[in-house]
Amino acid sequence: KVLILDFGSQYTQLIARRVRELNIYSEIHPFNKIPTNIDDYKAVILSGSPFSVRGDEALHPDLSNIKGKKPLLGVCYGAQYLAHFSGGNVAPSNTREYGRAKLSFVKNDEAFFKGISIGSQVWMSHSDTIKELPTNGELLASTHDVQNAAYKIKGETTFAIQFHPEVYHSTDGKQLLENFLVNIANVNPDWTPNAFVEETVDELKEKLGNDKVVLGLSGGVDSTVAAVLLNKAIGKNLYCVFVNNGLLRKNEFENVLQQYEGMGLNVKGVDASARFLEALAGESDPEKKRKAIGRVFIEVFDDEAHLIEDVKWLAQGTIYPDVIESVSATGGPSATIKSHHNVGGLPDFMKLKVVEPLKALFKDEVRRVGASLGIDAELLGRHPFPGPGLAIRILGDITAEKVRILQEVDAIFINGLKEWDLYDKVWQAGAMLLPVNSVGVMGDERTYEKCVALRAVESTDGMTADWVNLPYEFLQKTSNDIINKVKGVNRVVYDISSKPPATIEWE
Ligand code: XMP
Repeated sequence: KVLILDFGSQYTQLIARRVRELNIYSEIHPFNKIPTNIDDYKAVILSGSPFSVRGDEALHPDLSNIKGKKPLLGVCYGAQYLAHFSGGNVAPSNTREYGRAKLSFVKNDEAFFKGISIGSQVWMSHSDTIKELPTNGELLASTHDVQNAAYKIKGETTFAIQFHPEVYHSTDGKQLLENFLVNIANVNPDWTPNAFVEETVDELKEKLGNDKVVLGLSGGVDSTVAAVLLNKAIGKNLYCVFVNNGLLRKNEFENVLQQYEGMGLNVKGVDASARFLEALAGESDPEKKRKAIGRVFIEVFDDEAHLIEDVKWLAQGTIYPDVIESVSATGGPSATIKSHHNVGGLPDFMKLKVVEPLKALFKDEVRRVGASLGIDAELLGRHPFPGPGLAIRILGDITAEKVRILQEVDAIFINGLKEWDLYDKVWQAGAMLLPVNSVGVMGDERTYEKCVALRAVESTDGMTADWVNLPYEFLQKTSNDIINKVKGVNRVVYDISSKPPATIEWE
């Protein structure tokens, strides 16, 4: 496996993904928490950073167990770090060093640059520049503006690049990482979804033995893949609970429950709609709605867990982005690990041990693992759906009637996307029920009814998003269908706001 030391760059996760796309397992650790089992890692990559090596606050870990001892690649800050503290010179740059650049010199008889030629596009993003290479440094590549764009240390397997191989705009970035990891560091690219499944199932068998495990299914990709993996390892000792909070999509509870049963999972569907609606009655504050739903979910889930005699473990579909510790702006690794909305506050008295079989995977890897487990492509390709469901898409207070209206509208929109072959081109889509009535006319009658907003976004991780340019014909047809078929709605609008500054959900 490969160790990525994080100095706080916004691109660190991308490095890990690119490495894994080469079928090589990689882990991110904060720069100041170098794992003690360093021998288990076959190569180390130093990430970029928002900091400068020249500042007093320069992040400056002790690499004496790594540098010169195992293959090491410094990226951006990493490259400056390897220069500045080893006899080189890093200074503020006086030319623009952001964005696209092209290699104007490449030493391509080096294994490191194999298959990469002059003219290859690279992506720069730095304000310091390496003026002088470190002791024993040898120049490997330049761009028009950046003389020391890549170098190596003679006599070591230490390499450094000023540009970012991990971003899509560095055309040969993946090739470069492959050259470093496979050809220079001799890492075996054998980390495939099948290998992951086999390894994880063995580990789970070993760890769980004959213990009983409870898992909350949500209908989403993560919990489903976690359940199928666990089912493969421990079969009927896995007790899945699928709670209907009454805020799911139209017919979702019944359909998904059926799918789960078809997959051979030991699953219990619990319809707690009434309990959730009761807890939400009269509440219009978005955060209070979220809290109420979280609280009732825990109560319902806890009741169910108590029905499973002698259950020992709680399984969760936590994935890698939820657990990575990131370097905070103050230079220390942030202590807070992001918690999943639905795993945050299980009551103490449950005292279950936690098992998280997907903790090492990115979302796209979860999908690949799911596919190799034979999970239906349609289920794996589902859009993300928020835990509080339609509650945060009904602006204002929630009633059973509003849920019904929104379910109808949402179903027309989503089914339409599928029929028009647009569903897979959209990252997430849904409808919002607005707390306004507006005037309309139907037949000869004046109406005064609800307005709904449709939202469809493109994104990779939900952190940033842009609205999708859906065909006018599609919007026209959808709007018509909604107003004609859903009683109580007389106006449809399409949300054309990006995130930021808007969010994906309206609440
Ligand atoms: P926003 O609205 O913050 O949404 O742009 C980003 C992504 O997160 C989802 N989301 C939630 N998911 N519980 C969840 O499980 C929540 O409270 C919640 N709020 C937003 C949203 O659907 C989008 O995918």
